[in-house]
Amino acid sequence: MEAIAKAHTNIALIKYWGKRDESLFLPMNSSLSITLDQFYTTTAVQFCSCLNQDLFILNGNLADDAETTKISKFLDRIRELKGEKIYAIVNSNNEVPTAAGFASSASGYAALAAAATKSIGLDLDKKELSRIARQGSGSACRSIYGGYVEWEMGEKTDGSDSYAKPVMDGQEWDLSILSVLVGSKQKKVLSREGMKRTVETSPFYPGWLDTVEKDLNLAKQAIQQRDFDLLGNVVEANALKMHATTLGANPPFMYWQSGTIEVMEHVQELREAGIPAYFTIDAGPNVKVICQQKDEAAVRQALLNVKAVQDVYLCHSGPGVTYLPV
Ligand code: DP6
Repeated sequence: MEAIAKAHTNIALIKYWGKRDESLFLPMNSSLSITLDQFYTTTAVQFCSCLNQDLFILNGNLADDAETTKISKFLDRIRELKGEKIYAIVNSNNEVPTAAGFASSASGYAALAAAATKSIGLDLDKKELSRIARQGSGSACRSIYGGYVEWEMGEKTDGSDSYAKPVMDGQEWDLSILSVLVGSKQKKVLSREGMKRTVETSPFYPGWLDTVEKDLNLAKQAIQQRDFDLLGNVVEANALKMHATTLGANPPFMYWQSGTIEVMEHVQELREAGIPAYFTIDAGPNVKVICQQKDEAAVRQALLNVKAVQDVYLCHSGPGVTYLPV
């Protein structure tokens, strides 16, 4: 049976940074995100006993061997769960602005987990889907849900208690998230490698672990109370702390480019001018700016005026994974 699923990317408000188990994608800390409405992946999967290997089509083109091997490894987990050794055709399309560098493994593996499990005949609930998506890319487990989502790190070594759960519907507090494009060069250090190197070598990593749970609790409190400044301050501080750990790694590395810093400075200036806006940054040079809807037009315009800024995409809270008619 063919199944088609659609999942949106998410941006971490409190970051997932570091694994305690690399093969099961078990994190060192819990994290919190908001699912975005603008960027998503749609994936169709059809398992068929007529195939003798997996085929992966990405944005209309047959993917290379390396990409297909990654997808096959992920599908192996689903085949194992079902107890059937059959192969699949996976046809995936990323709806992200071309060359923007916003493509995310999160929406990709969330959509793939949903479509593949349904196609092979497994009937999983969202908690189970989240656990499966996590094993393709950690942050994907959060894209199963819409709105504000927490990924609970769990404690068990088998990963059974490490999955995402919804914190609050995005409609209840619909903030604006502006995705600011400053560079689209391929990342030099992928997040997977970056977090591993940081855990293994950065003397600042214990400092990250010491405070991240407190940050998470403050962020959840801010969401419950709709306290924008409380949320913005902890989100920005948490992102800066994550990036600080990379500077202490051996060899050290940094995701920021000059344009990244220009945008960060500009956001701070906006605050000084009385417009509350805060930034966060993932494992790349682009910046996400968070503000309240009433300020979104002014913040967008101000960001477009920054020299290094190539484009600004306005996002709001988006939905969780859904199935599309075949
Ligand atoms: C900085 O989920 O891409 O965006 O689990 O190795 O696939 P893997 O990593 P990934 O890492 C995301 C790191 C981050 C923070 C976050 O999204 O929480």
